Amino acid sequence: MKLKHVKWVAVLAGVMACLPVAAAGPAMEKARHTFAIGTNDFLLDGRKFQIRCGEIHASRVPAEYWRQRLQMARAMGLNTVCAYLFWNQIEPRPGEFNWSGQADVAEFCRLAQAEGLWVILRPGPYACAEWEMGGTPWWLLKNDDIQLRTRDPHYLNAVKSYLQEVGRVLGPLQITHGGPIVMVQVENEYGFFGQDPGYMSEVRDAVLAAGFDVPLFECNPPDLMKNGMLTNLFQAVNFGGDPENNFKKLRALQPQGPLLCSEFYPGWFDTWGVKHHYGNTEKYLADLEYMLSHDASFSIYMAHGGTTFGLWSGCDRPFKPDTSSYDYDAPISEAGWTTPKFFQTRALLAKYLLPGEKLPGVPATNPVVAFAPVTLQESAPLFDNLPAALQDGTPRNMEAYDQGYGCILYRTRIPAGAATMLEAAAIHDFGFVFLDGRRVGVLDRRNASAAILLPERGAEARLDVLVEPMGRVNFGPEMADRKGLIAPVKFGGETLKGWEIFNLPLDDQMLAGLKFAAIKPDANAPVFWRGTFTLARAGDTFLDLHNWGKGDLWVNGHCLGRYWNIGPTQTAYAPGCWLRAGENEIVILDLLGSEGHSIAGLEKPVLDELHPEKDFTKSRRPLVKLNLDSTTPVCTGSFAPDVDTQEIKFTTPAAGKFFCLESLNAQDGKPYAAVAELDLLDANGKTISHNGWTIAYVDSEEHVGEDGSAENAIDGQTASFWHTEWKNASPVHPHFLILNLGQPQTISGFRYVPRQGEGGGHIKDYRIFVGDNLVQP
Ligand code: GLA
Repeated sequence: MKLKHVKWVAVLAGVMACLPVAAAGPAMEKARHTFAIGTNDFLLDGRKFQIRCGEIHASRVPAEYWRQRLQMARAMGLNTVCAYLFWNQIEPRPGEFNWSGQADVAEFCRLAQAEGLWVILRPGPYACAEWEMGGTPWWLLKNDDIQLRTRDPHYLNAVKSYLQEVGRVLGPLQITHGGPIVMVQVENEYGFFGQDPGYMSEVRDAVLAAGFDVPLFECNPPDLMKNGMLTNLFQAVNFGGDPENNFKKLRALQPQGPLLCSEFYPGWFDTWGVKHHYGNTEKYLADLEYMLSHDASFSIYMAHGGTTFGLWSGCDRPFKPDTSSYDYDAPISEAGWTTPKFFQTRALLAKYLLPGEKLPGVPATNPVVAFAPVTLQESAPLFDNLPAALQDGTPRNMEAYDQGYGCILYRTRIPAGAATMLEAAAIHDFGFVFLDGRRVGVLDRRNASAAILLPERGAEARLDVLVEPMGRVNFGPEMADRKGLIAPVKFGGETLKGWEIFNLPLDDQMLAGLKFAAIKPDANAPVFWRGTFTLARAGDTFLDLHNWGKGDLWVNGHCLGRYWNIGPTQTAYAPGCWLRAGENEIVILDLLGSEGHSIAGLEKPVLDELHPEKDFTKSRRPLVKLNLDSTTPVCTGSFAPDVDTQEIKFTTPAAGKFFCLESLNAQDGKPYAAVAELDLLDANGKTISHNGWTIAYVDSEEHVGEDGSAENAIDGQTASFWHTEWKNASPVHPHFLILNLGQPQTISGFRYVPRQGEGGGHIKDYRIFVGDNLVQP
């Protein structure tokens, strides 16, 4: 297969000119440099160029700090920065474009150029990135039938107009027009989602039609590159380790061209309630050195993670909401500080500079301040600050009420009577249930069912379900993640009719309308608290949220993100550029009720402190026992000892609501079992969506030494994995992982992705069970 080489020619003087020179302005500048994909190497001005890239998301860094972060990246030894665009931030409403503040990507690119960095642009339309719905706009979900990331014209037309706008604004910043943008990515890891090259070529053509004339590429994990692959589009591969083998997999599909790892992970992202992720630095440095010494190009994902401010944090599948901190254990920390990994990377990259290339000094970090605890004196109970109600016979998802973000309240009345079950078809994501303003329970998407027992009522009562959506799933078929109380809602088995709906978008307008007073609200009620703290001078600080339950917070009008006392994050990064010397205002929405509503400013973040005891849903695992004795396995066998994806077909399809993988022993004879990913195949061999899947039972999970949660086996990410305990205990085989599919499914087989890279837990012999009663209460 012959790659179609794109040749760009321009005039160049002297080595140092390799570094991009600041473009005078957005006008269509004359190209001063050229960039091309050569037979073996990337070619900058016709000469071999090893891309030493790192990912930084402009949206995750205060615009005032972009230059400092870019200088850090340059000082670390990078010559290129890679940036996603988030469609939903740039086009908040159809046809309404926002390129200001955190979304001013053109300015980010200009600053990158000024700081001597080239830019690889990843405009999407889909990004993933632990960002709300992977960057896809919620308003597409107002169309109940829309098929995201397909050739559905409702989707594609929106994609084309968005990309046209991206081309209008960022096209002039291409190297072909004097700017720093050298490459543009088409879509993102489409291989995880679909297999339609027609869709990919539509997106590619839309990128071209938008005026992008630099080389284009697509990226995928090693085992999914074939899916939807365009043979005349440059391929890059994403991996967290084992560069030698993963580049071999790339070469198998792309025999020529430079080798590019477009996402190389030094750490990983965090989700609420799960241990903070640390990368394996030794392995990271060794793999980086391998790529450097083999002329391969790479992009460190993330070089600097930053913070997912606002309500933009996404959710891993099937439902693992991402923290607002996106520190990612990256070499450049959330607040833009150096770390040991930063200096190790700098020292390593310094060994692979072009002749005459020098690394600039490490820039200063921003000042850090702390302040003693202050008590927020004023409060505005949410129930006393409701907008006008909408009326609806049956509750519908939030998007149907033209609302994208924030919370939404569903209200109705129920008769007096004995304790009665309230059950919804589903809850996306948390439904705080109140009777006459008193909280009586929480509907929790982490549980298999959205049901609670309402206590006895002496009189007719007001039923409120305050729904808090976390981010929309940003990965996999589940990303069409409509939020709210999902009907039918049954009370004692009867469908409840006649509802009032209250939009609570938590936007600037809503916050400006809140009526605060120095009153002591009901402890368990959802309340906005307001107070001030005074600083002698402005500086970065980390707001200590240990005393608070669950919600969102704002400082001087900036939404810093979500918080949740279960951790692992216990602080919120408050950038000094959004603070001032003197008085600063803080507003905190607590949906659970806070302990003493005081807050302090710390000099260091707390990113790794779990408090499962504070979780309003005590056990994330239903208290059930195995019930396999009377069940015959539908399949038994042995997995191959390597790390490739293995597809196992049953002789006869089996039906059931539960799927059980039992590991009988391991390839290395040790007591551990691990699974990176499990997919199930329906009667036609198609992959079954993970929507509504939960873990019904698991005999052992490691939570201390690493995040070995069972959910990692069904989150779609092959970099994360379920692993049985090894730190404080080593229970032996057999090990059991039982999935609750939410409803009976006909299963004809499954796909097993072993734990990737080194490390134990590779299962050898196994048995599979499918049925409706594999567990019992
Ligand atoms: C994938 C995606 C990225 C990000 C990483 C995990 O590879 O392409 O956007 O989600 O996983 O952080």
